Amino acid sequence: KRLVLIGPPGSGKGTQSPMIKDEYCLCHLATGDMLRAAVAAKTPLGVKAKEAMDKGELVSDDLVVGIIDEAMKKPSCQKGFILDGFPRTVVQAQKLDEMLRKQGTKIDKVLNFAIDDAVLEERITGRWINPSSGRTYHTKFAPPKVPGVDDVTGEPLIQRKDDTPAVLKSRLEAFHRQTEPVIDYYGSKGILANLPAEKPAKEVTSEVQKALSS
Ligand code: AP5
Ligand code: ZN
Repeated sequence: KRLVLIGPPGSGKGTQSPMIKDEYCLCHLATGDMLRAAVAAKTPLGVKAKEAMDKGELVSDDLVVGIIDEAMKKPSCQKGFILDGFPRTVVQAQKLDEMLRKQGTKIDKVLNFAIDDAVLEERITGRWINPSSGRTYHTKFAPPKVPGVDDVTGEPLIQRKDDTPAVLKSRLEAFHRQTEPVIDYYGSKGILANLPAEKPAKEVTSEVQKALSS
């Protein structure tokens, strides 16, 4: 399967991805995770992306299309993939269609994590992540056994620099203005599934399974 996950910051894309990845043996390509790794490593890509990310604005289409084009060539991504956080502009969606057309493939399903803005601040400000594994916790909704420590690897957890109420506000603005049109783009192609993303994580997982089996 070739899947796209769309949803505002904190809607649960990264939380549901490992489950989908394991169940369907797909590779998980999250542009946000790839960009954060590039920023941490101070690569030329990271240096270019950092300013926009710190402000909660989108990085340029050319940069993210380039990293996805590169990542999709990995042998592990040939059977299928989960795109988490990409495409988030109509231009990115068109470029993706073009890339896949060249390979003779296409997106099978788009999961839209539908959720009210009002619940996102609590999710974002309580989030703790392990940047190396991508594992995600939440102080209230998914607390680690030991605060600040990954249950599985024992590595320290960190909070994302853009997970503040002020930066969340601009991330949400970017979502409504630039990414919501992408939902309509896929809706008109008849491959969109809307998920009730406000439900507890386990219930969202069942909804994802339902959407993918139909
Ligand atoms: P990115 O990393 O993609 O961030 P985002 O889209 O803002 O999404 P988040 O990772 O914040 O949310 P999520 O849905 O994964 O939530 P999670 O599952 O962790 O992008 C960051 C930046 O990179 C962008 O601002 C931009 O600058 C740049 N960028 C990235 N891609 C780009 C692109 N294509 N084009 C241009 N620029 C790009 O859940 C959040 C918290 O809630 C967790 O703590 C979790 O435990 C908890 N939680 C999850 N589900 C539930 C539930 N059902 N109930 C209760 N709690 C839950
Ligand atoms: Zn995420």
